[in-house]
Amino acid sequence: MNKVNLPELTPPVRRQTSRVKDLIRRLEEEQSLSREAFITLLTDHTPEDDQYLYERADRMRRLHFGNQIYIRGLIEFSSCCKNDCLYCGLRRSNRQAQRYRLTEEEILSCCRVGYQLGYRTFVLQSGEDGWYTDERLCRLIASVKREWPDCAITLSIGEKSRESYQAYFDAGAQRYLLRHETASPAHYARLHPPEQRLETRMECLRNLKEIGYQTGCGFMVGSPGQTAAELAEDFLFLQSFRPEMVGIGPFIPHRDTPFALEPAGTADLTLFCLGLIRLMLPDVLLPATTALGTIDPFGREKGIHAGANVIMPNLSPSDVRGKYMLYDNKISAGDEAAENLAALKARMAAIGCQIPVCRGDYQG
Ligand code: 5AD
Repeated sequence: MNKVNLPELTPPVRRQTSRVKDLIRRLEEEQSLSREAFITLLTDHTPEDDQYLYERADRMRRLHFGNQIYIRGLIEFSSCCKNDCLYCGLRRSNRQAQRYRLTEEEILSCCRVGYQLGYRTFVLQSGEDGWYTDERLCRLIASVKREWPDCAITLSIGEKSRESYQAYFDAGAQRYLLRHETASPAHYARLHPPEQRLETRMECLRNLKEIGYQTGCGFMVGSPGQTAAELAEDFLFLQSFRPEMVGIGPFIPHRDTPFALEPAGTADLTLFCLGLIRLMLPDVLLPATTALGTIDPFGREKGIHAGANVIMPNLSPSDVRGKYMLYDNKISAGDEAAENLAALKARMAAIGCQIPVCRGDYQG
């Protein structure tokens, strides 16, 4: 019989050869890269490289979490803050900001609503508000723990002493979010007044981890003065600190801050950073943040396709939601509202994802 030339059934495997793709592959294989490599990634990536990264990162997310997206109910319980971060609408110098404080009972009723809806993590976030003494905070944490022992409590209340962190932990909090904002000391000094120091922030993060919290750090993408070199420092820091959670989102200007006229960070760069983080820390808990949802109506879906696996809908009482204005136009209605979980579930189902009723702890 004559030899038949069969057509090729599958196209030849096309080796992706750009330098950026090589670095993406190396990051996935070794979970670490050099400063120079990060700078190359951040400066040279093309839209084609981005697609390649998102495929790898999305695959990595599915490998660790399947089709599950974890939800956290975010309770913004005080908009009072003693700090003066130049980027933040809650900074103490902002006389226009509307200040409020929820009582313990109000916070507990948020949890009650959230629990009914299916939330099993409550994130208690506030400005650095001295009215909430350690005693009040510990009582609050213990009350939440007592009423919902099957829920995780995440705190996001800023810089405290090691003793305070220990007291909250002993009262029942197991997770803590404290973004480092930027890992470059010079850049940190551009974003904060002199009394706030990067070294203090880093010491807080080390203390949290040592105490045993699932610890989250993170940064803003495109904050004023940020270059690829600064961002590379953020990745090097994540690489050595190896947090259990990472929160990143685009910088968005707030009209009543010194950065009112600065340009916002982009969704594209935020997505690129999310993808890199997923490959560097494969099992990290990584939210598609409100800021990403604010600058792009499909920010959450895009974030998930770039490797994110957590969403944090707003569970604050509706009358205060408009007052926790970190940046202009911060969304809190629609699918961002915790009570519209059905709508969020439908959006997740549309991209093949599910929202389970569970705490969604770090599994590392
Ligand atoms: N744009 C984006 N994110 C901001 N945050 C504060 N202000 C802004 C802003 N203008 C972020 C900070 C902080 C978190 C609670 O919100 O990273 O850690």
